[in-house]
Amino acid sequence: MWYNTKATEILGIDYPILQGPFGGNLSTVELVAAVSNAGGLGGYGAYTLSPQEIYEVDKQIKAATNKPYNINLWVSDTDAVNGTITDAHFEQAKALFKPYFDEAGIPLPEKPAPFKSRFENQVDVILAIRPKVFSFMFGVPSADILEQCRKLGIKTVGAATTLDEAIFLEAAGVDMIIASGFEAGGHRPSFLAPAERSTTGTFVLLQLIREKVKTPVIAAGGIATGRGVAAAIMLGADAAQVGTAFLACDESGALPIHRQMLFSDAAKYTTLSRAFTGRLGRGISSRIAKDLAGKEQQFLPFPLQTTFMSALRKAALEQEKLDMILFWGGQIAPLLKHTKASVLMQSLIKETSEIMAQ
Ligand SMILES: Cc1cc2nc3c(=O)[nH]c(=O)nc-3n(C[C@H](O)[C@H](O)[C@H](O)COP(=O)(O)O)c2cc1C
Repeated sequence: MWYNTKATEILGIDYPILQGPFGGNLSTVELVAAVSNAGGLGGYGAYTLSPQEIYEVDKQIKAATNKPYNINLWVSDTDAVNGTITDAHFEQAKALFKPYFDEAGIPLPEKPAPFKSRFENQVDVILAIRPKVFSFMFGVPSADILEQCRKLGIKTVGAATTLDEAIFLEAAGVDMIIASGFEAGGHRPSFLAPAERSTTGTFVLLQLIREKVKTPVIAAGGIATGRGVAAAIMLGADAAQVGTAFLACDESGALPIHRQMLFSDAAKYTTLSRAFTGRLGRGISSRIAKDLAGKEQQFLPFPLQTTFMSALRKAALEQEKLDMILFWGGQIAPLLKHTKASVLMQSLIKETSEIMAQ
């Protein structure tokens, strides 16, 4: 049967369908449990959480499902040298964003305190709580961490945006590789070359990796229907990871207005922008993303850029100035139909089964 793949074997799940983890508080225990309980693999994006918060979330997930699930972290979680920026760089960024802060009628932020990477402390929690699956993006954990995962029976999954990154992940010995195509919503997880130079589509990337790498592959980016899952499997994927379609479900942590936007005509147009966090990510096109294209030199490095954009987002939401916000979402959004995660899962399974039986 189509659903018996290396992925279902390795991950201990019934169907090779993964719910893509969402960072930035967009994941929920409810969504993870709905997908895992339906036979797929639910995923929780935990990169913004403190170690204690990860413990708490894990406890809640374990109470909501006895099936395998995935916890996701970002290996590299800052681009700021020594976690900070010069005063001159901050002033330049302030000048760039001042018109938007004036428009929203809010004060410009103070220079942010230096950012300290959280990954090392977060990963200690992963090793203690032992989820069945630990996925990560923006790099590869150390050989020591991967070895500890192997010993503890935690399956490791890394994300690649190029064939080179897939080869790198395979050499490190991860259990599975995500072929993350540039259609996908959210950040581009590139770690060897700049994200702007790593823009391969899912189905090309999947085929390149399938051909050159032996590690099982998970296709991610632009898959939201059974037709998409079937196509990925036909092209050699061992599983498909679905993000935007689950983000649009009621169980996700997305705001109601964000979910509405994903189902609206606005979602026909998406863009890759560094304006919102400092790292390249895909969301529904907005005025501010268009205005700021080409001005990346003045942005702050990830995650310090969010100093500006979180304040602006909060005010823009209150004032319903939606063109000042980037709502994360992928190119496949216009095909979304479902608002309940369990119904989406059932539909993905049924549609894929029908197509694969033809
Ligand atoms: C809002 C949002 C946040 C995301 N955050 C993460 C993350 O923290 N870690 C990760 O590995 N992938 C993250 N992703 C990628 C998804 O897990 C998934 O691979 C991707 O959405 C699949 O493409 P699709 O959106 O076209 O379905 C995120 C995606 C979105 C839309």
